[in-house]
Amino acid sequence: MEGKERKIEFPKGFLWGAATSAHQVEGGNVNDWSEWEKKNAEHLASEAKNKWQEWQQEKFPEMFDPQNYVSGRACDHYNRYEEDLDIAKSLGLNAFRISIEWSRIEPEEGKFDEREIEHYRKVIQAIRERGMEPFVCLWHYTLPLWLAEKKGILNKRFPEYFARYSRYIVKNLGDICKFWVTLNEPSVVISHSYIEGIRPPEKKNLWLAWRVYKKMMGAHNLSYRYIKEISEKNQIGFANHIKYFEPYGRNSTLDSLVVRVAGYFGNWIFYGLSKNKNDFIALQYYFRFRLKFPRRMINENKELTDLGWEVFPKGIYYLLKEINKRYSFPIYILENGLADAKDKKREKFIKDHLRWIHKAIQEGVDVRGYFHWSLLDNFEWDKGFWPRFGLVEMDYKTLERKIRPSAWEYAKICKENAVNL
Ligand code: BGC
Repeated sequence: MEGKERKIEFPKGFLWGAATSAHQVEGGNVNDWSEWEKKNAEHLASEAKNKWQEWQQEKFPEMFDPQNYVSGRACDHYNRYEEDLDIAKSLGLNAFRISIEWSRIEPEEGKFDEREIEHYRKVIQAIRERGMEPFVCLWHYTLPLWLAEKKGILNKRFPEYFARYSRYIVKNLGDICKFWVTLNEPSVVISHSYIEGIRPPEKKNLWLAWRVYKKMMGAHNLSYRYIKEISEKNQIGFANHIKYFEPYGRNSTLDSLVVRVAGYFGNWIFYGLSKNKNDFIALQYYFRFRLKFPRRMINENKELTDLGWEVFPKGIYYLLKEINKRYSFPIYILENGLADAKDKKREKFIKDHLRWIHKAIQEGVDVRGYFHWSLLDNFEWDKGFWPRFGLVEMDYKTLERKIRPSAWEYAKICKENAVNL
């Protein structure tokens, strides 16, 4: 694939998007995360010293400031969504992903706030008016307080609560949106919140983690049923953080075995538990995990993002091929991106990933869209604001938006439906 300059074209109608999530950009949310942030900001700031490497500490001194860990007004996207969607339009996107904040819609158990539905109606309409196809995620990590107070996902009625909320959304907004993503990254919730215990509700318990698998997929399945009952036209999937696991020792049986086990519990089990109640596969890809029995290897690749994540574009190709072998659903890549404050690596990152995606398409994989994570710099959960994932740079003091040079390169791709390599 190396060599002289060439142009690769994508299938007609390919969706070019960017993704966002409510809590990371909206500002002013009151949910389990906003409470957790207040309680944990001080210790997250003081732990930064042991957590990050020297080069990261030097480059991002904000990591030592407790304010970095409080989402607060974030990007104020709740009020400035039109401006942000204008930017998305100027970049030539024809699709856009948002999420709906459950705690706004159902701030008290069983009481739905019509004003908030109206807000999201306006947002989705604004997406459409700018010529973009909306993809709406119903749950991107945050829970309303009333639910968090009664065990959150572990509540035995979680699937019903979630499905009732989903039905309310789709009944009210189904006339202007067709693509629904039920849950964002169940595997990340399980690993970060129930195994490693670094995100709310900070559990480290394999038995609870297993229950979360079942509850989350039960919630997906029931809401799939409810949403389809509203209209068969609705297209539904859940966003899966699919990791590319690779055996460290190519000929090691043990390493290959861990890869199979990790692949099963980290990636594929969700499709089994969702009993194929999916209309598409939503792939979210960030990096590779090299496994050497019995654990993950330290990354030896020198190509790193600001978070120290390995840049490994070919992994997306391997995953697309594997998904294609396992399932026959169309695939949307609903997240792929990197933390790169100086914007030195983003253009190449995007093009390299697209090159491998294109190769998979040429080999028969039905990929229908690519959504870059993210449109804006935003609140990166337990790491706070310092990692910069945006096509658009955010000045958190003035809230001024500045389109990064790589975004204009992405814009060329979106407008031409092709990549010049
Ligand atoms: C999540 C986003 C997050 C991104 C970068 C994805 O796993 O869905 O919320 O910001 O990764 O870490």
